[in-house]
Amino acid sequence: RRVVLAFSGGLDTSVILKWLRQTYNCEVVTFTADLGQGEELEPARHKAELMGVKQEHIFIDDLREEFVRDYVFPMMRANALYEGLYLLGTSIARPLIAKRQIEIAHQVGADAVSHGATGKGNDQVRFELGYYALDPDIKVIAPWREWDLNSRTALIDFAEKNQIPVPKDKRGESPFSTDANLLHTSSEGKVLEDPWQEVPDYVFSRTDDFVSAPDKPEEITVEFKGGDGVALNGKALSPAALLTALNDLGRKHGIGRLDLVENRFVGMKSRGMYETPGGTIYHAAHRAIEQLTLDRGAMHLKDELMPRYAELIYNGFWFSPEREMLQAAIDHSQAKVEGTVRMKLFKGAVHVTGRKSPQSLYSERVVTFEDDAGAYDQRDAEGFIKLNALRLRLLAQRDRTRG
Ligand code: ARG
Ligand code: SIN
Repeated sequence: RRVVLAFSGGLDTSVILKWLRQTYNCEVVTFTADLGQGEELEPARHKAELMGVKQEHIFIDDLREEFVRDYVFPMMRANALYEGLYLLGTSIARPLIAKRQIEIAHQVGADAVSHGATGKGNDQVRFELGYYALDPDIKVIAPWREWDLNSRTALIDFAEKNQIPVPKDKRGESPFSTDANLLHTSSEGKVLEDPWQEVPDYVFSRTDDFVSAPDKPEEITVEFKGGDGVALNGKALSPAALLTALNDLGRKHGIGRLDLVENRFVGMKSRGMYETPGGTIYHAAHRAIEQLTLDRGAMHLKDELMPRYAELIYNGFWFSPEREMLQAAIDHSQAKVEGTVRMKLFKGAVHVTGRKSPQSLYSERVVTFEDDAGAYDQRDAEGFIKLNALRLRLLAQRDRTRG
């Protein structure tokens, strides 16, 4: 038996590596992805080597560009928000990790895959729906649902018994659980578990406090083509480079913090702190360019579909026919979503201050309160309103007489 493990190089996945070998007497292949979490990858390689993983069984991939181009941007075309607020930073990364893990499994002839998500959360669902969608026969091993290492102490004891180095800061209770990539950092658990308790400053890692952010607004422009961001301040950038640059700007101005109580797919409510600096700016900019370039019917339909689409991503159904159907409709709407959005970043907020587009549907001539030189005949509005009012009048007439 051979297993491909999603391996961060941290304490938990190192313990899993060892536990898999002991429990299943299997060979472990490690896969570590760079999704822009801001951690070095070489320590993960070193850790895998130390634990005796064969050179040809250590996979380390830079997936940043693919992540933003094929996952984050398509999702942003929909302006997706889960429960009205969450930009889905963790949810959207899981299908890519699952896809790459299955590719590696096929490459090395492994019959199983494994991950470090607990049995209480969304991530297990997202990983495993991804695995099964891409390989219906794959065997999945989820150690957190199987083992009896149910406390931090048990985990550390296991590590020490098995010569797995335990970093000093992991010896005490781990303060909270985080997940990071180019789009966001999420923090959950421990000090965050009481939803009335304000999130302490030390939880934040991606954004500066907006109170002490610069006292002067910073003006930027983002350019779109085909519904995707292509340039910042007039300079063309790849998807990952654009998001990285927006993250730097967002960090400096304290943009994109979200304290949320959300409904997990497994049924419980959880409280988290999200930091999505660049994604928050990008989301505002995309909305602004759609204001100019999307027809009302297309826009309103998109907005109706959006919660459905966001829920599919949250629940782990990226690789599903219904997500792909919605994606096709959303992508179709984006062909002429192009132009430039100007914004001011200031103390935690994004203010759109202007937008322009060669594909604009906005007509100053039609909308003006000044003389429109016959572009719009105000007399047309009378019949328009009368026919729209017809059924309301019939109702009112009936109810006046019948009470
Ligand atoms: N609640 C968020 C979500 O379901 C974030 C999950 C964070 N994952 C983690 N391993 N800490 O998308
Ligand atoms: C986990 O359970 O591993 C993290 C939280 C989640 O997946 O919702």
